[in-house]
Amino acid sequence: MTRHPLTGNEMSGDAQGGMERHQYDVIVIGAGGSGLRAAIAAHEAGARVAVVCKSLLGKAHTVMAEGGCAAAMGNLYPDDNWQVHFRDTMRGGKMLNNWRMAQIHAQEAPDRVMELEDWGALFDRTSDGLISQRDFGGHRYARLAHIGDRTGLEIIRTLQQRLVALGIDVYMECTVTDLLKRDGAIAGAFGYWRESGRFIVFDAPSVVLATGGFGKAWKVTSNSWEYTGDGHALALRAGATLINMEFVQFHPTGMVWPPSVKGLLVTESVRGDGGILKNSDGERFMFNHIPEFFRSETADSIEEADRWYEDKKNNRRPPELLPRDEVARAINAEIKAGRGSPHGGVFLDIASRRTPEFIKKRLPSMYHQFKELADVDITAEPMEIGPTCHYAMGGIEVDPETEVSVVPGLYAVGECSGGMHGSNRLGGNSLSDLIVFGKRAGDSAAAYAAGLPSRPEASDIDIEAAKASALAPFEVEGRENPYTIQQDLQQSMNDLVGIIREGSELEQALVEVERLKERAKTMVVEGHRQYNPGWHLAIDLRNMLLVGECVAKAALAREESRGGHTRNDHPGPNPEWGSKNLVLRLNAARDGVDMTEQAITAMPDDLQKFFE
Ligand code: FUM
Repeated sequence: MTRHPLTGNEMSGDAQGGMERHQYDVIVIGAGGSGLRAAIAAHEAGARVAVVCKSLLGKAHTVMAEGGCAAAMGNLYPDDNWQVHFRDTMRGGKMLNNWRMAQIHAQEAPDRVMELEDWGALFDRTSDGLISQRDFGGHRYARLAHIGDRTGLEIIRTLQQRLVALGIDVYMECTVTDLLKRDGAIAGAFGYWRESGRFIVFDAPSVVLATGGFGKAWKVTSNSWEYTGDGHALALRAGATLINMEFVQFHPTGMVWPPSVKGLLVTESVRGDGGILKNSDGERFMFNHIPEFFRSETADSIEEADRWYEDKKNNRRPPELLPRDEVARAINAEIKAGRGSPHGGVFLDIASRRTPEFIKKRLPSMYHQFKELADVDITAEPMEIGPTCHYAMGGIEVDPETEVSVVPGLYAVGECSGGMHGSNRLGGNSLSDLIVFGKRAGDSAAAYAAGLPSRPEASDIDIEAAKASALAPFEVEGRENPYTIQQDLQQSMNDLVGIIREGSELEQALVEVERLKERAKTMVVEGHRQYNPGWHLAIDLRNMLLVGECVAKAALAREESRGGHTRNDHPGPNPEWGSKNLVLRLNAARDGVDMTEQAITAMPDDLQKFFE
């Protein structure tokens, strides 16, 4: 019997008499914050649980939520409460959020944060010993519980430690390529060990997708290689639906120099802690980009903006702390107008605003990141930054209470699920989303598995089909290289489906995606199944191409500008579009997607009143 060198899991492959096969109640695919939280909840509810992740445990985009976890704990501002957090979240999402998810999120986030503390998370403190909370864009009050600028990392560490202590099985470096179903319901998942290429089947009536986003389909991104839309594509192929796919968040501040780190995140905490944005004329340009929607609450002079740091209650917020979509668009406009920095960004300056001691204490990772990667001392000079593709608001459509998709037994949580953030996510709301809905998804997935009269079993035919599909890239006679196709996709998504969009460009993007899908049919994968990065990418590319089509198609259809979707040819929001979502489902006959409109359920009066 062979054991995986890192996990110690049994690796009895074809050579040892067949495919490896395991039985669980709940399989969680993805080991970021939402996956780990879901696995812990399902385990605590009595289910047999395993986490399957294509990378190493702990290596997740969760760590890129650096600045904090939003929760209305009221530690600094007693006036803060779930109602204000709910209102901020809905306004940040331009009212397209699933209001029930936004409500649950705001109500439950404080308890989930306290629970993390019980499990050993070491949050920074206020002078009177409470969990410290920092400012972020779009939040009325300082409400981000944080650990320096490494909050996501500490949350992952805490959850990981608990997962290991509870003895939950983890399958690392294991990619799931297909979901298995029986009579319309989930029966398990099929995948392969990345190292050996051997196949593995998980029999389980509940699967929780927690695979994160799809930023790797863009050229400039804060996402690392894992984020190829796997959960989105698995869900589509299993018959689930996606919503809000046109909304992609470009974080305003990514590194722009040197080229090797272009896109790497520069946390919003720099602005939350006092950093300001300037163009090449030295102008604090955000004052020229305050949208009508936020004008009444945004300072319109430097003096007023600066006063806010002393008295946050009675002054209007600095424009640098507008929601991300607004700031990213403004930076983009400055660069396009020729007022950018030498390497194609703008300047982010905290050096002239805070002492070196403050910067090193509050932003230690940023200090080291710039020192080591760009030879820039952020305590003495400004950073050069520009927008970077960071987060997918769109994802798998789920029930707000249970996180189940339209497929029985299939759950989704975190970035790969849709609805919670509407058209634009507020910074800090992703870590809270992960822990709130991670727990709910784990609880529901366990309850569903426990309540089944009998377990659905995947058929041999379906397992053989999944195997053939995974091996297909080896069967092709062709000349296309997966790396070239990925690069071409990234370039097209960057150029044609970026921050500012245009109908004709979106049409062109759809043509490009179809062309790339055709090219992918003649993509050659050489060698054999043992650690073969070309094969891994060929498999991931199917997902990226499908997701790329979803985003471009929905972006073309939505003829308005809202949140993370800006149309040059349709500026401003259109009230008609404010009451509907676009829903995508697989059209298997052409390996593409079909789209329909869906009316948004009206908010009840007791929530509606917060917006009057
Ligand atoms: O800027 C940041 O620290 C990122 C946070 C987030 O995406 O929530």
